Amino acid sequence: MANLWIKKTISSLQIESSEEHGGLKRTLGSRSLVALGIGAIIGAGLFSITGGAAGYNAGPAVTISFIIAAVACGFAGLCYAEFASMIPVAGSAYTYSYATMGEFIAWIIGWDLVLEYAVGAATVAISWSRYFTKFLAYYDIHLPAEMTMSPYDSVTLADGTITHGMINFPAIFIVVLMSMLLVRGTKESAAVNNIIVALKVSVVLIFIGLGWGYINSANYQPYIPANTGDFGSFGWSGIVRAAGIIFFAYIGFDAVSTAAQEAKNPKKDMPIGILVSLLICTILYILFAHVMTGVANYTSFQGADGIAPVPVAIDHMGTVGPDGVITPAYPWLNKAIIIAILAGYSSVIMVMLLGQSRVFFSMSKDGLLPKVFSNVHPKFGTPAKSNLLFMLFVSLFAAFVPARVVGEMTSIGTLLAFVLVCVGVIVLRKKQPDLPRAFKTPLVPLVPILGILSCFAMMLALPGDTWLRLVIWLAIGFVIYFAYSIKNSKLNNPGK
Ligand code: ALA
Repeated sequence: MANLWIKKTISSLQIESSEEHGGLKRTLGSRSLVALGIGAIIGAGLFSITGGAAGYNAGPAVTISFIIAAVACGFAGLCYAEFASMIPVAGSAYTYSYATMGEFIAWIIGWDLVLEYAVGAATVAISWSRYFTKFLAYYDIHLPAEMTMSPYDSVTLADGTITHGMINFPAIFIVVLMSMLLVRGTKESAAVNNIIVALKVSVVLIFIGLGWGYINSANYQPYIPANTGDFGSFGWSGIVRAAGIIFFAYIGFDAVSTAAQEAKNPKKDMPIGILVSLLICTILYILFAHVMTGVANYTSFQGADGIAPVPVAIDHMGTVGPDGVITPAYPWLNKAIIIAILAGYSSVIMVMLLGQSRVFFSMSKDGLLPKVFSNVHPKFGTPAKSNLLFMLFVSLFAAFVPARVVGEMTSIGTLLAFVLVCVGVIVLRKKQPDLPRAFKTPLVPLVPILGILSCFAMMLALPGDTWLRLVIWLAIGFVIYFAYSIKNSKLNNPGK
């Protein structure tokens, strides 16, 4: 009889992670890990989703939403740090839960991580497409609106006609490009990543530095716009819902834990990589949101502009003429910043697609998924077939689903993974209190419990349709688990 709760032992995982056991080369120090974290964190959440969250949910108080989301991520980050320093293996939350809560929960997390990584990559690709189209428009190249949006999106053209999208081609293009690079094994070298990170952080600092002088305090009145009568539409419920939405901006610090096998000194450097990258991004985000909603009124971020709010804000940095028209002070800035944003997004998409293939690779090795996901290409040495399958899957989402839907699915899926990691810390402290832990989450069980509650609160603040999609996704996962995985699991079927 198969056992749903069968667990891997921590010692077997530690052997799996050792270099002698065919592990990966340990080349990353704490600085590279922090850079890896920032490289995965700063992306569409900040440069895109912040717009809609301010425009529709929180107004200028989106800064408070950023603080709420950061605190929740801090609790979860402390829990991730304990696991990553104790079980430094690839596979992240999936592997941790296999050792603590058993196969069935591990399956749920692994399946759920598709929402974080694959659907997350689609979200960033859609935002990439929006910035790319804007960039081309600066050079008078106008792609037909139908070809740059999902069928659920629409745009009002200059002549007042409303055009609906059909398919988002630029989003498909960037997904295909990044997948091809992954197939070829073009792993982001630490050096390339460092350059992109430097570029991204500079963009944020320039935006904050130049924008600060153009803040119009009238835009902060009211700081918390009154609730419209609907939950999540301004007022405090809007702030909490915006926290659930912009939580997307923090996703990625956990990707540091997937590189645990490549860390020189994982016990010390993993917690630094996770927590320091989170801290730096939190400070940058709060300042960014403060400037964004200070230079332009939050209502400017409604509609199609909400998805590319940086140019809107930059266009408001300027002097207002007697006719009320603003002459932008930095017309050159838009193009420069968009190039940096496009490069920055590409690295986020790549890390997410890579994270996705690593998680499915581990699950396939454990027998929970078909071998195709752990087949390594003879020449490129990468899970090429898996990369191509995900290229197809992610492209479909990027082409036909609106940004809000995929963004919220990513957030709810990741929040669920965080909740389960926090639970895992409590479980393992109870079951195996004497295991050596290089980094200990402080104040257990208080911190993990606060992590569970805050992440769950943000999940609750997300709209009902997002919950429905999560339930449907998990139900599909259950069917696959009982129809396939449990029968093929290596732990459950040792002879296979
Ligand atoms: N945090 C990443 C982003 O905002 C996923 O793009």
